This record gives sequence, structure tokens and C-alpha cells, in this order.
Amino acid sequence: MSVTTAPPSTHVPRWESLPDAAPHNQTPAKIGRHLVSADQFTRESLEKLAELAGTMEKFYEQCHEVLRQPSSKRFSRNRIVAAFRKEHGVGERLMAPIIFESSARTYGSFYSAWKYLGGDYLFPMTNAAESSSTTKHESFESTISTLARYGPNVIVVRHKQNGAAKLAAQVVPYGCSIINAGDGTNEHPTQALGDFITMRKFHDNLCGLRIAFGGDIKHGRTVRSLAILLSNPQLGVKQMYFCAPPAAQIDEQLSTVLMRRGVNFCCVQKKWPELIQDRAIDIYYQTRIQYERIPDPEVRSLMSTTQPSYAITEQIMQTMQKNGQLLMHPLPIHSLNPEILPECEQFENAIYKTQAQVGLWARMALLSHMFGPNGTALD
Ligand code: NCD
Repeated sequence: MSVTTAPPSTHVPRWESLPDAAPHNQTPAKIGRHLVSADQFTRESLEKLAELAGTMEKFYEQCHEVLRQPSSKRFSRNRIVAAFRKEHGVGERLMAPIIFESSARTYGSFYSAWKYLGGDYLFPMTNAAESSSTTKHESFESTISTLARYGPNVIVVRHKQNGAAKLAAQVVPYGCSIINAGDGTNEHPTQALGDFITMRKFHDNLCGLRIAFGGDIKHGRTVRSLAILLSNPQLGVKQMYFCAPPAAQIDEQLSTVLMRRGVNFCCVQKKWPELIQDRAIDIYYQTRIQYERIPDPEVRSLMSTTQPSYAITEQIMQTMQKNGQLLMHPLPIHSLNPEILPECEQFENAIYKTQAQVGLWARMALLSHMFGPNGTALD
């Protein structure tokens, strides 16, 4: 009996011929039908989304406050929910999260955000890398364009390839939007939005802000998206520092964007604790080494060995507390070789748990802005 196997794929994914990210030298495209890059946030939309996230937070608190009361009083929850959804909800619209890479916070918060807004789901796929036909050599764009024809209003997509969200936006039919939930080392615009809104909770205005990014800047996407968002000259951010060993420093593409926009930035290798001691920064944004995205085992091992010298310790945290500096992190933190030691969590100015919570309200605000009454995606 002869056994036939599928022929090797000759398909060349189209993202290989696409630029890594949106062309940042152009005027931001604004949030419309799709959200693929943090470059699409204008100052006006950021202000509006920050305000809307405040409304989402209030709604969330109200709902949970009512749930803590005796069940006889809970009918008031339905009234609150109905009034809120009339103004901000997404009606009967359908979301399909299609997640090709591991995700807990981003998937969990998108899923919950849509639910709070009253939306419904079509085939949520959390393990698309194993369960979709890309395992049979179907191309990513073919998978997405087929699934889009089952009628979701929005596909939230996460994928390990740079440019995947942009490619998805090019192949879905009219009436279906794409939101980038992280594409390779490229972008994570909704994380950047949540980070921005978190910063605004602690600083009324970002004008004059000095921020240091630490950890693995090269292989991560959160710093890239946040730096792009903050490089908008209208926000008035004063200074960015990138604190990492050479193997994890910002790449040419990001530095070109920052230079073109006139951002003051500087790469720091070893002297990053001095930025904290000398009060040269207001926020330290730490990140995890992205081991899963570093193909070379030697670089991986080098990064792992140098990690402790970039970690935030309790002693550093005490200085930050004294100086009124905030510590942020997109999470998760590596538990075996931590970039922030566990003792730091007890400090008030270590705000990464708040940051994760704000991520929910930020995504609620974004989804309402795009798919609520008069949403930008519905034009
Ligand atoms: C990040 C990601 O997936 O890019 N996490 C997140 O979405 N909150 C950061 C990371 O994995 O280190």
C-alpha cells in the first residue's frame, strides 16, 4: 500500500515581501476600520480613549459593587448594564479572536471587554497555530480570509510573524475589521494604548516625561509600540532611554522612526541604575527576555546570563519609591530568572498589576470607539 503525504509547501508567505511595520514616515492613518499599528493613535483619539476608559472603569466598578450586594438588590445591575450598553455597547456584533501565539492577558482582556460591551462571539480560537489549516500548509491569509467569510465584525489576531495583522487587514472582506493583538517582534498597539492610559492615571500630562525602557527591546513588541505611540510630538515626551545589552537594543527601524520624529533618545548599556539614582527618569518600563523569539542559542544563553544585571531589585525599588518614579511592565514576568524580583510587587509605585487591569478598560474603550454607536469601524 502506498502512502501519500502532502507535498512540501512551495507557498512563500506574502509577509516576507512586506515591510515589517506601517510606514512610520507617513501621517498616522488614524483608527478607522482596522487597528494594526500604534502609529494610528492621534493625540485627540488618545485623549478620547483615556476619557472613555475612565467611563469603562466606573461601569466595571459599579457592576462588581452590585454583585457584592444581596441578590434581592441585584436587579439594579441589569438597569446599569442596559443603560451603559445603550450608550457604549457594541450591540449584536460578533468577535472572532484568532490567536496563533500563546496569550493570557491580551486574549482574556479582549474577550472580557467585548462581553462587558454586550458583544457576542464566533469561533474563539485560542490555539490557532495547532488547530487551523495552516498546519496543512494553508497560507495565513487564506485561513483569515476564509474565516472572515463566516461573518465576524472583528477578528482579533495574534501571530508570530511581523506584519501578519496588516496582511490580514488586506484580505478580509468589507464589514470585517482586524485588530492587532501582537504580531511577532513588530507591534502590540492595544498594549501601548493600555500603557498610555495607565501613565495618564498617574501623570495628568505626559509633557516633559522622561521614560526608560529596559530588558529585551529588540525582540519584544511592547516597547516598540509604546515608543511609537509616545513619539507623537504633540504629546511632548521629553526623553527616552533604552537600557539593554547590545544584543537586545533597539533596531535600526525604530531608531530611524524616533530620529525622524525628533525624539531625544539614548541607548544605555550598564549605567541604567544611575538614571534612577540621579532622578533622570519618571518611569522605568521593564520587559521580559523574549527567549522564544531568539533563534541563536548563544544569544539566548548570553541574554540569560546578563539578565540579573538588568533586574529590578528591592533596593532599586526603594530608591524609585523615594524618588516618586513608577515601575511598569507589560507582564508576564519570567519566574525563574526574573527581570523584576518578587519583593518589588509590594511597593505602591510598582504599578504593573494596575497596568494589566487598565488593559481591560483600555480595550473596552477601544472596542466601543470602533464598534459602539457611531463607531469608527462602521463608517
Ligand atoms: C507581551 C507580549 O505578548 O508581547 N505580553 C502582553 O501581551 N501583555 C510581553 C511578553 O510576552 O513579554
